[in-house]
Amino acid sequence: MALVLLFVASVPAVFAVNVDGSISSGEYSKQAVFDKGNFQLLWEFEGDKVFMAIVAKTQGWVAIGFNPSTVMANADMVLGLVKDQNNVQAIDEWSSGIFGPHSPDVDQGGTSDILSFAGTRTGDTVVFEFSRLLNTGDKFDKVIPTSGKFKIIWAYGPSLDMTAKHKKAGSATIQMEGQK
Ligand code: HEM
Repeated sequence: MALVLLFVASVPAVFAVNVDGSISSGEYSKQAVFDKGNFQLLWEFEGDKVFMAIVAKTQGWVAIGFNPSTVMANADMVLGLVKDQNNVQAIDEWSSGIFGPHSPDVDQGGTSDILSFAGTRTGDTVVFEFSRLLNTGDKFDKVIPTSGKFKIIWAYGPSLDMTAKHKKAGSATIQMEGQK
């Protein structure tokens, strides 16, 4: 029995990320900061899944988009609408045009591939966490690489109306295994 306990205690936590809308120290090993710290992206890989968190200063929606071709075109987007921890929506979208339109994958013949999500609001700061497969198999999702450079777009809105244009948006190339 003692041996079993010793073994269990010495095995590191395999699934460290807890999708609960709050971020503990060390939960995510990779991060990138945009808009002078007003939009922070954190991520972690676990097996065939990616866990992501957005921490942003906004009263509105938050979003991340993967691998666009030009501006927003062909970006695989995840939008988070966090009113409070009991009212959170995560929407798996695809932008077909340079300045949209973008709409839920399910409305375009695809699937919603967000596996888990949660969020919280404290003052003017919102936390939104979600997970999905690196490769969902849906044609309206991009494959997320675990290493190398990857182009993303980020945005946050002025309100929780997801049709309202962003207050701020930008693009960046991030290093998927963490910044060097
Ligand atoms: C919610 C509805 C949205 C509308 C109506 C919208 C509309 C637009 C428009 C008209 C532009 C052209 C530039 C400008 O006028 O500022 C633009 C740019 C852009 N959008 Fe969106 N967008 C939306 C959502 C999103 C989302 C969800 C993302 C990211 C996931 C995003 C990322 C971007 C980026 C990165 C640019 C370029 C900004 C720049 O270079 O300064 N947009 N958008």
